[in-house]
Amino acid sequence: MVFSVILLLAGLIQLCLAFHGKDLYYQAQSILQNISSNIDYQPTTIYNDDNIYGKFYVPQYDMDLDDYVNTKVNHCPDIITNTVIPLLEESANNHYYEAYIQLGDFYTFGYYSLKPDYLKAKQYYEKAVEISSNGHSYFMLGFMYSSGLFGLLPVDQARATLYYQAGMENGDIDSMIALAYRNAHGIGTPTNCELALVYYSRLAQIAIEHYEKIDNPNEVDDSEYNIKIVDFNGGIYGEKLSESVKSIMSRTKFYAKSAMEFEEFNIDGNNHDFVNNYINGLKYYDGDYFLPKNYTKSAQFFEKCVNIGHETYGQTNYKHVDRLDAFYLSRCQAQLGRLYLRGLGVEKDIVKANLLLTRSLLVNQIGDALNDLGYIEERELLPGRNSSSEDKPIVKASELYKKAIAKGSTDARLNLAKLLTSISPDHEPMRGEYAGDIYTNVRKAVYNGHRESLYYLAEYLQSGLASKVDTKNSHECPNMNFYLKMFVDRSESYFFPHLKFAFDELIKGNYKNSLIGYSIAAEQGLENAQISAAYLLYQTQPLWSLNGYKTFDAKRVEASIKYLEKASKQKNLDATILLGDLYMNGIDNEILEKDYAKSFSYFKKAANDHSPHGAYKLGYMYEYGLGPSDSMIDYFMAKRYYDLSIQYQIQFNKVLNKSAVNWALLRLRMKYLFNKKKFKSNSESEQMGWLNAFNKLRGGNKDSENNRANEKATAHHEGTTLTDEDYEDFDILDYVVVILTFSFFLMFFIQNIIRRLRRMDNEENGNQRQAENNQPRDGVEMQNGWNGAQFNFRRGNFEFHFFAL
Ligand SMILES: *[C@@H]1O[C@H](CO)[C@@H](O)[C@H](O)[C@H]1NC(C)=O
Ligand SMILES: *[C@@H]1O[C@H](CO)[C@@H](O)[C@H](O)[C@H]1NC(C)=O
Ligand SMILES: *[C@@H]1O[C@H](CO)[C@@H](O)[C@H](O)[C@H]1NC(C)=O
Ligand SMILES: *[C@@H]1O[C@H](CO)[C@@H](O)[C@H](O)[C@H]1NC(C)=O
Repeated sequence: MVFSVILLLAGLIQLCLAFHGKDLYYQAQSILQNISSNIDYQPTTIYNDDNIYGKFYVPQYDMDLDDYVNTKVNHCPDIITNTVIPLLEESANNHYYEAYIQLGDFYTFGYYSLKPDYLKAKQYYEKAVEISSNGHSYFMLGFMYSSGLFGLLPVDQARATLYYQAGMENGDIDSMIALAYRNAHGIGTPTNCELALVYYSRLAQIAIEHYEKIDNPNEVDDSEYNIKIVDFNGGIYGEKLSESVKSIMSRTKFYAKSAMEFEEFNIDGNNHDFVNNYINGLKYYDGDYFLPKNYTKSAQFFEKCVNIGHETYGQTNYKHVDRLDAFYLSRCQAQLGRLYLRGLGVEKDIVKANLLLTRSLLVNQIGDALNDLGYIEERELLPGRNSSSEDKPIVKASELYKKAIAKGSTDARLNLAKLLTSISPDHEPMRGEYAGDIYTNVRKAVYNGHRESLYYLAEYLQSGLASKVDTKNSHECPNMNFYLKMFVDRSESYFFPHLKFAFDELIKGNYKNSLIGYSIAAEQGLENAQISAAYLLYQTQPLWSLNGYKTFDAKRVEASIKYLEKASKQKNLDATILLGDLYMNGIDNEILEKDYAKSFSYFKKAANDHSPHGAYKLGYMYEYGLGPSDSMIDYFMAKRYYDLSIQYQIQFNKVLNKSAVNWALLRLRMKYLFNKKKFKSNSESEQMGWLNAFNKLRGGNKDSENNRANEKATAHHEGTTLTDEDYEDFDILDYVVVILTFSFFLMFFIQNIIRRLRRMDNEENGNQRQAENNQPRDGVEMQNGWNGAQFNFRRGNFEFHFFAL
């Protein structure tokens, strides 16, 4: 009895404490709200549209400082450190769990430029889940164990999976995304495609329901912050050599360029108002990284364009519109019609939308306008429309959609598929006569990059509709996951708000916080985020740099490589090749050991994926006998892969600059020159011989499918066909080749010496240099990818390789 009274009292005290804690917590919240609406708190940014392209620079990371050097341009407001945090701490001391969570977030994400303290944050999350099963806290703990916080904690993937599991069970969507990815790729848990499919299907459904609710297609396709930040400098291997698809395009710059080109090509054109207003309207309609969308402004520009059009061509009811004017005027009308249809930046007005869209068709038939008209018909949005009247809306709508498709509208494909589904028995596409049409339209929409169609394609694969009408598309589990994952990955505004956070922190110069944002998305399987996180952790060093050389911590490099491996598994070619390069050259100070076998397998993987760069590097490894431990110099294979590299460049139009491969081929040729006599005097059994290799190559190695193509490619770039004479008679040209090649190597020899000197200088000066750098610098800090040789030179292999052969 006494015991239970004590218990009751204890419980009451706890309750009172919690009440007090809650009170303090809400005090803190109201202050925070005050701050966010306070114009005085405007963090400064260091990057803008003019200084980020080609000039993006990640400074040295200082282990003692626990941050990138001199990046704290933003000061944490006093009210946060003096009032908000103490209030939250007090609230947490009173066991109010929301306070723990918020403190955990503050110390992880460094909100308001508060100095992050990851271990402190971890303790807060741990406290939070002790009191209440909180999904977000479990997720953050999972993230901490999975990433090891870049060396702060031991990585423990199994434990991370358990935390994510707990997070998901408590309703945390982030955890579900992470688990879907981990099951698909066997990270911290055995690979389980079926389970991943369950998760991805659920996520996709959640996203579909969400976007249906907001019913605003312009809010939907906004995967704009899912970027590889290294693309600001042209990609991992720079503008020309990077092969992965670019994730960044400055729309502002693009539109500015279009406008200028228009001026140039149309100097004597009568009216620039159409094009200028159209381009400006689009600029604000789309928005950009540094230019927020503004539908109001967009509508104003389109309206101007439309009004000028009406003044000029209205009287004749838009007959005989100048061809160029028609192009832009019709688009202005269509865009403005869409804004009225959706009520974006203007009062929603279906009648006006309908009028504008219909008028645009008088000027020029545009797919988007036809699609929007179909949408209006199908939903009978126009007042006075009468479904029992003669032409049924469904019939009329489907006609409009079909016309729109013929004019290239991808939206119309999905709209038509949906319409056909709605008139199938029980809304089951399988049951009706339109199964084939529905499937084909959705598949084509997917191939044109339509986001929402990804969901439906996966659905058809799962339901068996696909296997009924398309036997080619695999309906195996990994294929379904592929489409569903892509759909989830692109539902960015709903699933991945941390990508915008990461970008905002990046342009403020808070690289450390940015890294957290990208790593979380990387944990959830976003390929681009994996590259961005990897890049913030480790950057390859340029041959020459005004900024001195950075030093890297082994643990952070290890974390970076882990992210690159994940991206490589998702077929990111540049990541694969970079891994090959890193293992081929190692990283100084025993941070990464050379591992030719690994390097070889990465290049092989890239070459198998038709990468010219990968094929070149593989050729290089054969030429110098690098590669797996038992490998020998193999000129035959070297030439084969060099040629393949050129072939891929031509075939896929990937990299137009062939100079590196041509140099390599010249080098091979020169080696033959020097060794010809020796090879000739040798017996026929000389398997590694240069001549032998070429004979084999010419002699139609029948089982080599690329042989013919190789020969063609060689003939193409050497301007001749391969014959015996080419290798018997040497004329003056060959000596030119020798001299050129020597100067080429001499250049690198000198570079090598300079580099050595710089490095000595670098080691002496140590860390002193780090202090001054504050601004992003001009240096593009990527080495040119083709010349793997550059790295071997400084390893002291230069003399050996060059003279021994
Ligand atoms: C919010 O700001 C206003 C004006 O700056 C101030 O009067 C008010 O007391 C603030 N509220 C809180 C909760 O700090
Ligand atoms: C959008 O543009 C309008 C018109 O120029 C302007 O009044 C408004 O402040 C802008 N909105 C934002 C959020 O910048
Ligand atoms: C709709 O059509 C029916 C029959 O054609 C007609 O009786 C009715 O008045 C129409 N309603 C409107 C609103 O036009
Ligand atoms: C090809 O690359 C070399 C060296 O990287 C460069 O000097 C040359 O201008 C490039 N050629 C073209 C056509 O881009």
